[in-house]
Amino acid sequence: MTAKIISGTETAKAIREELKAEIAELKEKHGIVPGLVTILVGSDSASQVYVGAKERTCKALEMYSERYDLPADTSEEEVLALVEKCNKDDKINGILVQLPLPKHINEHKVLYAIDPNKDVDGFHPVNIGKMMLGEDCFLPCTPHGMLELLERNNIETSGAECVVIGRSNIVGKPIANLMLQKRPAGNATVTICHTRTKDMDFHTKRADILIAAVGVPNLIKADQIKEGVVILDVGVNRIGKTEDGKAILAGDVDFESVKQKAGAITPVPGGVGPMTITMLMKNTVQAAKTAAGLL
Ligand code: GUN
Repeated sequence: MTAKIISGTETAKAIREELKAEIAELKEKHGIVPGLVTILVGSDSASQVYVGAKERTCKALEMYSERYDLPADTSEEEVLALVEKCNKDDKINGILVQLPLPKHINEHKVLYAIDPNKDVDGFHPVNIGKMMLGEDCFLPCTPHGMLELLERNNIETSGAECVVIGRSNIVGKPIANLMLQKRPAGNATVTICHTRTKDMDFHTKRADILIAAVGVPNLIKADQIKEGVVILDVGVNRIGKTEDGKAILAGDVDFESVKQKAGAITPVPGGVGPMTITMLMKNTVQAAKTAAGLL
């Protein structure tokens, strides 16, 4: 068997086309332009790349965008004051504070200060609580993108054994929760593995759907998976640089070793990654429609 490639690039492109049409209609019929602000503190190079990509995507979709690049020594009070200003600004529907923040800034305090109605990252406890309860809310972008990948690529999840490796707040915990809910791309039997799991291979070998979100390059090999498993690889690990200075990326799954055994797999790059920013835009459009009383 050669694994089917689940292309995030293609799926994201299709969703962006839908969004573009929706945004054009919002502008034409209601005079609404969804707006996103990005706030970056410090000069982490990966974060700069992500924020740049978010800004470019906003522009490509003809959304309104504002970008704040603040120095690493910006105080917590200054960041909180900026969040508060954005909470009150009607041009802004979504607020994204890029993580990680410098150590002297309390991440929770900043995320909790964002108006839950503008929390397009889905990181505010109000949205996390609603997500747990299966209520309408902003879903965190990477897990949201993974659900779209499963749905749009017709992957059956109901009753499937889904094994999630990694328990981060951004990916592992929310995707595990979403996959067990009574919803499309849900109804799975979910296991979460982490650094204290006694026998990880026991779990990975049982998985019908395997989600790897640990940040360890090429961790999962062919001898740890079942024939035909669907793999979503969330890892974006920089393992070197090309001669012209571009990052060489590897997933958490050893693509070359598993591709003959898995049923389907998301590549790195071009898998889960492109979906994250697209879902951020989708959440921002949703925020704009809600703010205008259209939802
Ligand atoms: N850092 C890594 N991933 C994310 C994300 O999805 N949102 C934010 N705000 N920061 C991140």
